[in-house]
Amino acid sequence: MTQRIALVTGGSRGLGKNAVLKLAERGIDSLFTFRSREEEARAVVREVEQRGARAVALALDVADSRSFAGFAQQVTEQLRQVWQRDSFDYLLNNAGTGLHAAIEQTREEDFDALFNLHLKGPFFLTQALLALIADGGRILNVSSGLTRFALPGYAAYASMKGAMEVLTHYLAKELGERRITANIIAPGAIATDFGGGAVRDNAQLNQFVAAQTALGRVGEPDDIGDAIAALLSDELGWMNAQRVEVSGGMFL
Ligand SMILES: NC(=O)c1ccc[n+]([C@@H]2O[C@H](COP(=O)([O-])OP(=O)(O)OC[C@H]3O[C@@H](n4cnc5c(N)ncnc54)[C@H](OP(=O)(O)O)[C@@H]3O)[C@@H](O)[C@H]2O)c1
Repeated sequence: MTQRIALVTGGSRGLGKNAVLKLAERGIDSLFTFRSREEEARAVVREVEQRGARAVALALDVADSRSFAGFAQQVTEQLRQVWQRDSFDYLLNNAGTGLHAAIEQTREEDFDALFNLHLKGPFFLTQALLALIADGGRILNVSSGLTRFALPGYAAYASMKGAMEVLTHYLAKELGERRITANIIAPGAIATDFGGGAVRDNAQLNQFVAAQTALGRVGEPDDIGDAIAALLSDELGWMNAQRVEVSGGMFL
């Protein structure tokens, strides 16, 4: 069987890193991106290799759509050099940062930055990579529990994620003729560096989230990495255009 390859944005830390490692444990190689933390990215490559798989780390600013044609060219070269292939199998649009600001206090430049990173970026990055996704491949986008429940301060961020859920439907519709599926995972609050590491490091917030979660704790990166690997498994190949929330049951 051909070696499976995933392209993961934001694989240097947090959920993207965890997904890269969980995929490696299932024998899936990765091309993953980092924005600025090259050292962390190199360490992830080594961790993948310790699991018997291969990974390549490439720099990419997902908020800079002008760089995507050049990035697609780099991906093409890496696929040829490392895997002797001209396509990859799974695209995980994961990279992202948060913003916590009430609607009244949200600045236009912060809104634009979120828009570029969380909606325009994934839209045009996916467009730039479409020709490199194998027919029968998969796209998995990343949303948030915050599109279903409203917590004050997340209006702009959650609006972008909501738009990604709509885009996922359209990707599924338009790419069906190439047998490419598109789904979106919506994690609950997870203990990563996200939002300044607040869910992990702020005891009060951590307890608040745990108390609002049916399973009684905050999410850990492993909870999401495992879910991503499962969603990309062959067994879920018929699932298409779905939002899957993985939150331990937050705000039920
Ligand atoms: N953690 C949560 O509670 C939570 C909940 C729901 C959804 N999510 C979503 O899950 C995704 C991953 O979040 P996380 O918790 O893993 O965050 P994280 O630990 O802060 O990691 C963010 C990752 O995205 C990369 N990144 C940030 N800005 C970028 C940019 N402009 N261009 C390219 N890459 C960029 C970072 O690269 P560098 O290392 O180089 O900076 C890093 O690899 C995001 O889409 C987030 O919205 C998170």
